[in-house]
Amino acid sequence: MPTGRDTKVVTARFGDESAKTLAGYEKTGGYQALRKAFAMRPEDVTSEVKASNLRGRGGAGFATGVKWGFVPPGSKQVHLVCNADESEPGTCKDRELMYWDPHLLIEGMAIAAHALRSIHNYIYIRGEMMREYLVLVKAVEEAYARGYLGKNILGTGVEVHLTVHRGAGAYICGEETALLNSLEGKRGQPRLKPPFPAVKGLFGNPTIVNNVETLMNVPAIIDKGGKWFADLGMGRSGGTRIVCVSGHVNKPGVFELPIGITFNELINEVCGGVWKGRSVKAVIPGGVSMPPLDPSELDVPIEFDALQTDERIKPVNYLPGKQFDLGGGKPLRTMAGSGGVVVMDDQTDIPKALWRILKFFAHESCGQCTPCREGTGWLEKVSRRIADGSGKPGDLELLGTIAHGIAGNSICALGDAAAWPAMGFLTKFWPEFEAKIRRAA
Ligand SMILES: Cc1cc2nc3c(=O)[nH]c(=O)nc-3n(C[C@H](O)[C@H](O)[C@H](O)COP(=O)(O)O)c2cc1C
Ligand code: SF4
Repeated sequence: MPTGRDTKVVTARFGDESAKTLAGYEKTGGYQALRKAFAMRPEDVTSEVKASNLRGRGGAGFATGVKWGFVPPGSKQVHLVCNADESEPGTCKDRELMYWDPHLLIEGMAIAAHALRSIHNYIYIRGEMMREYLVLVKAVEEAYARGYLGKNILGTGVEVHLTVHRGAGAYICGEETALLNSLEGKRGQPRLKPPFPAVKGLFGNPTIVNNVETLMNVPAIIDKGGKWFADLGMGRSGGTRIVCVSGHVNKPGVFELPIGITFNELINEVCGGVWKGRSVKAVIPGGVSMPPLDPSELDVPIEFDALQTDERIKPVNYLPGKQFDLGGGKPLRTMAGSGGVVVMDDQTDIPKALWRILKFFAHESCGQCTPCREGTGWLEKVSRRIADGSGKPGDLELLGTIAHGIAGNSICALGDAAAWPAMGFLTKFWPEFEAKIRRAA
């Protein structure tokens, strides 16, 4: 187990009802980092975040400080948008974070807004999260009343406003450009990139979209320094990581852990092992869009780069005669994604599990581009008949061909999100799929 297991950066106030109030939050050191940051130049705040190796917790793991640096200098209006749409199956961390520590998010956003020179900022929260919405709105009102939001904050001349906006529960509205369209009152469909939001985003202005967990790490980075945060992590990934473990373990839950912890340690030491004395068959490492790991691949850390490049993880390539790569000859292995870890025991019907995942993506495709609209439907249809026990010879090759036809060929990453698990489960559990088809024949 890596050191620093007990360091809690964003979950320290979990379980403490009083910390949700402004008074309780201030009593535990709240808004001190904001005071410190507002005395710094915006570019120095960004430099500290760059030094921290903070990487986006929304799925892609992009370096946060680097992203902030993409806003064109001298932009007249910039926006910061917090992505609180959290809809990836298996992921339930942002919801807990907002519920237990709303002021930490507000403080992180105010600091980020100062770094970006952004006045009008938004939290886009998933529509179903009414409990968290009410907690957030109350906290925003308190922050305005105490002068941590508004005009001339703490007499510094800095102006930061924050609006909490509810979505309507569409998975695609978590994709950053669909989210921006939805926030503008349009249909929540992704935009073609480039231009990226950092250059042309909300209302045509440069916009930074960051995940809830990402922004909640910012106060600690300013308070304790970028180096402290970078040292907490490993490699190019600073800080801790929140994982939401569900499925066949004795103790599922949301845990803040060292980024270097392996899946085996996570399952056996943190989650009390696989339930009913069974063993692991598959683990989804970061939300259902990520290719699964098999039992021989669980000694790899939950860290972003390790999951993409560690040679102990098999490349996910299934299609006869073809290889799928992520570009530059880099094979797709898997990704840390949004931290949603799903553990499946040795009794799991893998074809059925894959069908359930693909059904989700077929339902959530926004229909804007052909490979995803048609392809996710076909993935669902073919995987359903395999799962039902009525699969035909050639169906596995067909699934692989459809998946490869979608991946890399759609407007947004929902297409990849559907194709990758299909390729991954086929690559690693081919004999189980084949046996099911053989039984059907
Ligand atoms: C289909 C789809 C759904 C997504 N859903 C979410 C989401 O619910 N929450 C989130 O933070 N990021 C989500 N993302 C990633 C966002 O597009 C974006 O990369 C992220 O909010 C950036 O924040 P970060 O840099 O802090 O990770 C989704 C991406 C895709 C393609
Ligand atoms: S990939 Fe799918 S979800 Fe994304 S824009 Fe195309 S149809 Fe819509």
